[in-house]
Amino acid sequence: MSKKKISIIHGPNLNLLGEREPEHYGNMTLEDINAKLKERAGELNIEIDIFQSNSEAEIIEKIQSLTSDFTIINPAAFTHSSVAIRDSLVAKKIRFIEVHLSNVFARESFRKNSFFSDVAVGVISGLGPEGYIAALNYINQSEKISR
Ligand code: DQA
Repeated sequence: MSKKKISIIHGPNLNLLGEREPEHYGNMTLEDINAKLKERAGELNIEIDIFQSNSEAEIIEKIQSLTSDFTIINPAAFTHSSVAIRDSLVAKKIRFIEVHLSNVFARESFRKNSFFSDVAVGVISGLGPEGYIAALNYINQSEKISR
């Protein structure tokens, strides 16, 4: 069987993890999280490509260029605002898991609305960095691999 290819997309302000509101997002930096992801992907023999941007346009361009089997995305604040990123995922028929470090349902009410959840394969919210690993584990065992 050929190696599965997964893309991870981190949205705006996630480059500030470690210093940003640790009460919501913990103390790990994005580099720490990416290192954990690379380690687990190595164990699972999965190829991963990791991308972070603060720009909606760059995230859309990234999505339009995806050739991976599956995507894990934390759209961060764009979760609650971006019809454009949602449309790009739908247009390109991307199979994706939506991940949030914090439990968005236990926070301000505007965070309860996501433009992504109804078109996602699944949603993980509130498990911190382990949420990304859980998504990777799910994808590893999922049979139906098509974008
Ligand atoms: C977040 C939750 C969003 O509401 C917020 O805007 C973020 C991060 C999370 O990972 O918990 O930037 O997606």
